[in-house]
Amino acid sequence: MNVLFLGYGKMGSALGEAWLSNGLVKRLVAVDPGRPQGVKAEVLGSAAELDETSAFDLIVVAVKPALAREAIVALPQPSLDGAIVVSIMAGVTCAELSAAAGLRAAVVRAMPNTPVMVNQGCTGLFSATLEDPARRKSLQTLFEAVGIAVWLEREAQLDAVTAISGSGPAYYHLFSEALADAGIALGLPAELARKLAAQTARGAAELQVQPQADFITLRQTVTSPNGTTAAAIAEFETEEKLRQLVKKAAQAARDRSIELSQPS
Ligand SMILES: NC(=O)c1ccc[n+]([C@@H]2O[C@H](COP(=O)([O-])OP(=O)(O)OC[C@H]3O[C@@H](n4cnc5c(N)ncnc54)[C@H](OP(=O)(O)O)[C@@H]3O)[C@@H](O)[C@H]2O)c1
Repeated sequence: MNVLFLGYGKMGSALGEAWLSNGLVKRLVAVDPGRPQGVKAEVLGSAAELDETSAFDLIVVAVKPALAREAIVALPQPSLDGAIVVSIMAGVTCAELSAAAGLRAAVVRAMPNTPVMVNQGCTGLFSATLEDPARRKSLQTLFEAVGIAVWLEREAQLDAVTAISGSGPAYYHLFSEALADAGIALGLPAELARKLAAQTARGAAELQVQPQADFITLRQTVTSPNGTTAAAIAEFETEEKLRQLVKKAAQAARDRSIELSQPS
């Protein structure tokens, strides 16, 4: 598979370098004005350096959303014809992508998250124009190389995926920060508190992804009646404080995702 990346920053390079390392793509060209160093991809500073007749099976658009159109229309038209254009950009709709790429390209939206950098990502995929099951499966396989990947039925579901798994890593990082701060307040050295919070997050996540694991049973396993965990959980659960806060936060992220998709 011949792949072109527009934008080879944090997310683009995490995906592209993993695909090259796993041998999933044969040739990978990345257009990025920052010309990232020390990567396996062939890097070009601008689309003008592409051969006019270059053809790619897959074009991944991984620039900031505001630069989407500019990056796509800079490509020579033959490279777009018949290609699958996959956008990982938040809030750039299929309609906008098709308008920029032309009707002969199949357009896919993907919403990955930063754990793709350690092959533990989640990616939601949506397309109204890529119908061939074999092409859909091969695209899913690429994203599965860096975690899990699922096809969504409706484009609007991408706003929910953005709010849960796209932004989600930041919620867990914030919780770890708060837990480490609580540890410091209880008298632990800062470095130790940070290490305990991070390793606890990793251990809990590992338990959560075991087959047949369910969140409630896992929580109950730690929570003996009237014990220490029960005392803490009672604080989180008073008037469902934590649950209500998480719901409100996710709704705010979903609403912002919708707002970003509106034409400016
Ligand atoms: N970070 C996340 O958690 C996350 C999750 C899911 C999706 N996304 C999406 O992923 C996209 C990229 O995010 P990121 O965090 O990887 O950003 P990033 O690290 O800033 O990467 C974007 C790259 O695109 C380059 N670029 C700018 N203009 C370009 C152009 N016209 N053609 C080609 N490349 C161009 C930038 O170069 P310069 O720096 O030199 O301008 C930069 O290297 C965003 O649209 C975001 O919505 C991010």
